[in-house]
Amino acid sequence: MQTFSAINPLLNQVGEDVMGFLNEIQLIYPQAISLGSGRPDEQYFGVADLPDLFDRYVHTIRAAGTEDRQAVMNRLGQYNRTKGIINNLVAKYLENDEGIRAAPEDILITVGTQESLVLSLITLCNREQDIIMVEDPAYVGITHLAIINGYRVQPVPVHADGISLEIMEEKIQYHAQQGKKVKLVYVTPDFQNPTGISMSLEKRYRLLEMAQQYDFLILEDNAYGDFSYGEHKPPALKALDTYKRVLYLRSFSKTLYPSLRLGALVAGQMIRDKDREVPLSDQLAKTKGYITVNTPAVNQAVLGGLLIKNNCTLKIMNEEKVAHMKRKRDRLLAALHSSLTPAVAPWAAGIQWNVPQGGFFVTVQVPFTITREDVITCAEQYGVLFTPMSFFYFDEGGHNQIRLAFSYLRDEQVSTAIERLALFLKSKVPVNNKMQYHEYRK
Ligand SMILES: Cc1ncc(COP(=O)(O)O)c(C=O)c1O
Repeated sequence: MQTFSAINPLLNQVGEDVMGFLNEIQLIYPQAISLGSGRPDEQYFGVADLPDLFDRYVHTIRAAGTEDRQAVMNRLGQYNRTKGIINNLVAKYLENDEGIRAAPEDILITVGTQESLVLSLITLCNREQDIIMVEDPAYVGITHLAIINGYRVQPVPVHADGISLEIMEEKIQYHAQQGKKVKLVYVTPDFQNPTGISMSLEKRYRLLEMAQQYDFLILEDNAYGDFSYGEHKPPALKALDTYKRVLYLRSFSKTLYPSLRLGALVAGQMIRDKDREVPLSDQLAKTKGYITVNTPAVNQAVLGGLLIKNNCTLKIMNEEKVAHMKRKRDRLLAALHSSLTPAVAPWAAGIQWNVPQGGFFVTVQVPFTITREDVITCAEQYGVLFTPMSFFYFDEGGHNQIRLAFSYLRDEQVSTAIERLALFLKSKVPVNNKMQYHEYRK
């Protein structure tokens, strides 16, 4: 039988296939509690409401026009408008819930943020001269996408208050001297995947200034913004975007559920196309016409029905879900505290973690290296799964950090998961530290 070799050699240049690896380990060790995958909590999906929401949308469209029910249904079954069919409802939602004012024609309803990323890269970037700057570590959906498609990517470190603007500026200037242009900067200002970090308000303003000064566009990925656990969350970059530098990528996967495969891409810019200025959203739609053609109108109708039902705000509907996720974060932090503070576990001196103000992830810093093999050992021998932070770095980095996802855990699993993780971490502590522990106990 004839076999084929890998067709795109760039596929071999990406790092770990994170999702594939975690899924596979979970299948091999089904008893392991997962702190690995950032899946949303299924108890809030509301998939059973789907027919009612669809009906509500159909009813509203019919009441507002002259078509009969069958004609509306037929239209939903047909190829549809490339930019989407619920843009006016989504525009109202963005204004109500996020303070973002966007004209419906500047919005594309996409097949999730992953499609928004594809459309942005393909529409805006040239593989020879343009550089895409990404947070490091970052969501692999952007870095791996760019690598396998042959775009130039430059990582910029993430600090406790967001991407390092000093290093970014140095890199922009360096690449300009090499005749290259930083075209896009990808950031997740709210509760970043993988670190859980948020960008400070001051940095948000400065980043917008820099975009104006150095003439780049910002890809603002907001998948977790609804899950805010503090008193005040800074506004989205897009809500502060007086220079029109931000392309806003809004996923509904965590806010609603991932299999709906819906996202919104907001672009209000005009761009030069040969000798004329055209709306960027039209160019993005042109690209979309060759990628997914349309976003399924049936799925859009479901979201449309939900927005109509909730007066174009999802805040009240999501209140309990967000409060529950906050409780899970608190439980996880409390469990880390009781298992890993030096007062109760002197061997754990040097283990630290951050306190994310929202989202699904906590970063744990450990005083030793964590490898891919450690994930397997931990799942097999200790019954718990986590993700090494190094999986999310562009080159090297994060070798002594792990990402813990608390979103998919059941409440009663949290403390067991952390007790198991603590046993594994203890097994990794160099003997000297454990000796100190014994000395301490004497
Ligand atoms: C930062 C970030 N962006 C985007 C996505 C995926 O979004 P979507 O399901 O809308 O494609 C994820 C999913 O984990 C994510 O973490």
